[in-house]
Amino acid sequence: IFHFIISFGLAYLLGSIPSGYWIGKIFFKKDILQLGSGNIGTTNTFRTLGVIPGTMVLIIDLCKGILGASMATIWGSTPHWAYMVVGLGAILGHTFSFWIGFKGGKAVATSVGVLLLYSPSMFAAAVITFLLSILLTSMVSIGSMLGFTIVTVLSAFWLNDWLLTTIAFILTIFVFYRHRGNINRILHGTESKVPFGFGYWF
Ligand code: G3P
Repeated sequence: IFHFIISFGLAYLLGSIPSGYWIGKIFFKKDILQLGSGNIGTTNTFRTLGVIPGTMVLIIDLCKGILGASMATIWGSTPHWAYMVVGLGAILGHTFSFWIGFKGGKAVATSVGVLLLYSPSMFAAAVITFLLSILLTSMVSIGSMLGFTIVTVLSAFWLNDWLLTTIAFILTIFVFYRHRGNINRILHGTESKVPFGFGYWF
């Protein structure tokens, strides 16, 4: 239990690094929480600060998930499920970062990083779903929500992995909740689109 608390705490600390917020503040003197969708994630960094900062945030947030989950290795002989449980610490840090008053991102990139370590096949399923959705709709939010949904469905009916199914299900509900503003905009036809994919032209 001691090892668990330490690794979970380290994962939380890593996850709580508000990359988008800090890059905006340090390099652009801008508060990303007040710009675009107000989110600190990759999409809003691309949208409001540009391609290079957006790419940096994507890489950092993915790494927070990968490194966060790998904190489980301080257990010594790490059981496989520990990567997922400790990885949750990083996801929690990303979504409720103490650096910015327990606000934070929408859990997408960091969760994907954890998933890469826990289940590469589910990582691939999530990324393919995500990219196909964006290709069709040009809306990143739709890709994020469908990516989580597909992982829940596949882990339940194909992998029969109850731990992943439970966590993916809870995260899917959370991700939809965090995207409630996006869902509202999608329904009203006002969700912002990326200049990529078919949806951009229609
Ligand atoms: O990862 C977040 C993405 O799904 C949506 O971001 O800024 O459009 O709300 P944003």
